[in-house]
Amino acid sequence: MNKNGWIIYNGQLTGTKFLDFAKWLQSAASKQGIKTTIYKNSELFSYLGDNKLTIIGERLLPDFVIFTDKDIYLAKQLELLGIRVFNCAKTIEISDNKIATYQILAQHHLPIPKTIIAPKRFPGSGDLELDNFQQVIDEFGFPMILKEAYGSFGEQVYLVHTKAEMVAKIKEIDDKPFVFQELITTSYGKDMRLHVVGDEVVAAMTRHASDDFRANVTAGGTMQAYQPAEREKEIAVAATKAIGADFAGVDLLFGPDNNPIICEINSNAHIRNMYNCTNIDVADYIISYIKNTF
Ligand SMILES: Nc1ncnc2c1ncn2[C@@H]1O[C@H](COP(=O)(O)OP(=O)(O)O)[C@@H](O)[C@H]1O
Ligand SMILES: [Mg+2]
Repeated sequence: MNKNGWIIYNGQLTGTKFLDFAKWLQSAASKQGIKTTIYKNSELFSYLGDNKLTIIGERLLPDFVIFTDKDIYLAKQLELLGIRVFNCAKTIEISDNKIATYQILAQHHLPIPKTIIAPKRFPGSGDLELDNFQQVIDEFGFPMILKEAYGSFGEQVYLVHTKAEMVAKIKEIDDKPFVFQELITTSYGKDMRLHVVGDEVVAAMTRHASDDFRANVTAGGTMQAYQPAEREKEIAVAATKAIGADFAGVDLLFGPDNNPIICEINSNAHIRNMYNCTNIDVADYIISYIKNTF
């Protein structure tokens, strides 16, 4: 394949893992004879108007982009220029928003925790109409999960045990979009990550927290390589397809009777933990997939 690719990452987030991921993909591409250039999203300015739609600058535009950031307008601009973006802008947008993700999954009749979307509030709206939330309590009871649409590392996922805790959390979340969700008790403190590339689960692990309901938040959490069941693989691949992803890290909860329940889909899942845990290099699969798609 004599194609020229870009790898785009977010250069403004602190920590080295974003550049680390981009470089890892670059060396995987290089091993397979594909030349790529790494850019920060913050170096690329999308220009519109004057009968033009382009990226400012003299760079030769690429044939494809591996987009590890969430800058959906930049991803969309590249698509409007006719460039194949992995994952596409629409997928990144859905994956980034847990409400959008659950709606698509439910539309595809895929298993998710029972979820109720909180009605939208504007900043500075009046008092909460607390009586209305009784409908949610009647559905789920306590404990119950509140989960913001945008969040990661478990930091915007809350477990509330009483109506008072629930109300306090709703007030704290304020005008940010969120859902109420049933707690899957059979999955307390554990979940599984299946990494899907194309039609295949290429690597998987389970994650256990010793001191929290969230598998990703813990002082002494552990990862373990995992051989997923057929049903788990099917659900993970179907979830990936439902949001239109080329590749994704799909997190499944352990439902009752070993039935998997989809927790979330990460369209730009990192691969270092998976590598450390399983010795499987997901980047090689991603590059092979891209090679075969052109
Ligand atoms: N409905 C649920 N029932 C049980 N555990 C849950 C549920 N939702 C989330 N969790 C736990 O919380 C963790 C974080 O939730 P998740 O939705 O994946 O948010 P984040 O994007 O912050 O990782 C999950 O890995 C899982 O262990
Ligand atoms: Mg998660």
